[in-house]
Formats: sequence, C-alpha cells, structure tokens
Amino acid sequence: MDTELLEKTARELVAPGRGILAADESNGTMSNRLEAVGVGPSPETRRAYRANIFSTPEYESAISGVILFDETIRQKMDDGTPIPEYLASRGIHPGIKVDTGAKELAHHSGEKVTEGLDGLRERCMEYFAMGARFAKWRAVIRIGDGMPSEANISTNAHALARYAAICQEQGLVPIIEPEVLMDGNHDSQTCFEITARILDSTFAECKAQGVHIPGALLKPNMVLPGKSCRDQGTREKAAQMTVDCLTAHVPHEIPGIVFLSGGQSDEDATAHLNLMNGMAVEHPWQLSYSYGRALLAHALQTWSSGSNEESQNAFAHRAAMNSLARSGDWSTELEA
Ligand code: 13P
Repeated sequence: MDTELLEKTARELVAPGRGILAADESNGTMSNRLEAVGVGPSPETRRAYRANIFSTPEYESAISGVILFDETIRQKMDDGTPIPEYLASRGIHPGIKVDTGAKELAHHSGEKVTEGLDGLRERCMEYFAMGARFAKWRAVIRIGDGMPSEANISTNAHALARYAAICQEQGLVPIIEPEVLMDGNHDSQTCFEITARILDSTFAECKAQGVHIPGALLKPNMVLPGKSCRDQGTREKAAQMTVDCLTAHVPHEIPGIVFLSGGQSDEDATAHLNLMNGMAVEHPWQLSYSYGRALLAHALQTWSSGSNEESQNAFAHRAAMNSLARSGDWSTELEA
C-alpha cells in the first residue's frame, strides 16, 4: 500500500475551498433524471450533459475531484479527449463509483446491502490505469419500524471496510459512504443515534481490516430530522448535532469529511456546511462536500431547456457558494 500517495490524494481532495462533484449517477438514475426534465436518455445525452458540465470555465478553484460512473470514465469530451484525461488536465482528480448497487438484504424486508466486492481488485486496477485516483462505495441505511436491523448495519459496515482496503491496495483513496436516508418521520435525535451506530460499526471494521484511515475520506449524511418529521428544527441545530455526532464517532486521523446532500435543498446543503465551518472550534478534519443534486439539480434543469452556457453558470454558482461555505464565508445574500 502506497500510504504516501493515498494521503497526498486525500489531502488534495479536501484542500481549502475545494470539494467533490458527485456525477456518478448510475445509468438508470441518470436516465430517470434526464426523463424528468424531458430529455430522452441515451449514452450520448448522458455524455453530452456531463461533458458540458465538466467544461465549465474556472470551476477548478471549487472542485478538487469528480466522481464518475463506469460509462462516463470510458467516454470522451466533444473534442475526443478521454474524460478522465481532460479532468486531470484541469487539476481535478477523476474518481469512480465502484459498488454495483444496493440490493435487497435477505430476510430483512425493506433493507439493503451494497454489493460489488467480486472482481473489485481487478476493476480498481483498470480504473487506476485509466487515471482514477479515488473511489466511492455507498451503503444505504433506512430508518423505520424496526429498521435498521443489526444485520443491515453489520453487513454494510463489513462491505465498506473490505472495499476500502482493496481500493487502498490499488492506490485509490476510498470514499466511505454510509448514508442514513432522510426518508421517514423520525426526529433528529433518532438520526443522530443511527448515524452514530453505523459510523462506530464501519470504523471498527476498518480497524479490523487494516484500512489506513489517513488515506481515506468519509462521506456521511448530516444529522437531520426525516423529511416527514413535523419538527424540522433549525439549520443551527442540524449543524451542531452533525458536528457533535462526527466528533464523537469519527477517527480524528481521517483527513476529511465530505458530506452528501441527500435531498436537502441547494441552499440548506450550503448553509449547513457554512455553519459547521464557521464554528469557533477547530475541527479535527476538513469539513467539505461531495454533492450531487445540490450542485447539479438546477444545472440539469437549465441544460434541458437548451442552454449549455446557462447550465454551466448554474453549476459554477453552486460550486462557488459551497466553496465559500468551506471557510464559513457564505451568506444568503450571495445567492441573489
Ligand atoms: P447527493 O448529494 O445528491 O445526495 O449525491 C451524493 C452522492 O454521491 C450519493 O451517493
């Protein structure tokens, strides 16, 4: 394991003012999102939409890495340059989603375990040769009646650690993503407790399996009430509970925490990050973003109505806002 390379890549991914763009929707998810805005899904429309985003002027100051899906890492920009090569030429690390999706967990109706360990070593080798320097694996945890079960927690934690170890062996920084979903009517204290459980279990497995924590990144949910909870609380409460949960349950040697947006509004995702980074305490890790929807939802909508440039502007704006939130320098007036 090349710990020096892993630590360097991880530090670069969470450099000041920078964060990650998650553009790794599977073909199914990306097709649904295109259809929802009236665009016929195909390999070419998925490529054209993403190539336009990637060629946005000057977003490198806000974006350190882009997570790609298998189809995209093999595609080319309009001028024929392979996409990973193009990103690297702009000082942006190409990343790759390597899980093969969340599948039904046997004997546990409604719960899922993320698959993709078979052949993972060989796939990581190929992706590294194509230019990828980091990877992502997403586990999903649903809160509900009797959920999550211990089986849901332990199987996902075990798989996340196995994935992380294999990636590191092959020179890829693993983004470890245990996502507690926002679906449901649970309160924020329940989200806090479940998030703490999956984090404890994941890092215990990482320890048992020898994962090199300074060469990894964590991609967690924020601690928020469920979408249908009557008490939605305040942004300040969400930011404080998130920081409290992470401080107590995430190893302090991990270089960075890159949040997912998970269905928050664009502005909530930015505001929460801004509040956390504006606190009068020195956090042990960088607090950054690895947003998908909160960086691209508006850009996709705009692209579908025909303007490449306006789509780039919409993405560049969200990237700039989140970049400011890395240092607590964002404010709502800047959204105008
Ligand atoms: P969202 O920010 O849209 O939740 O996506 C991030 C991600 O990569 C989820 O796996």
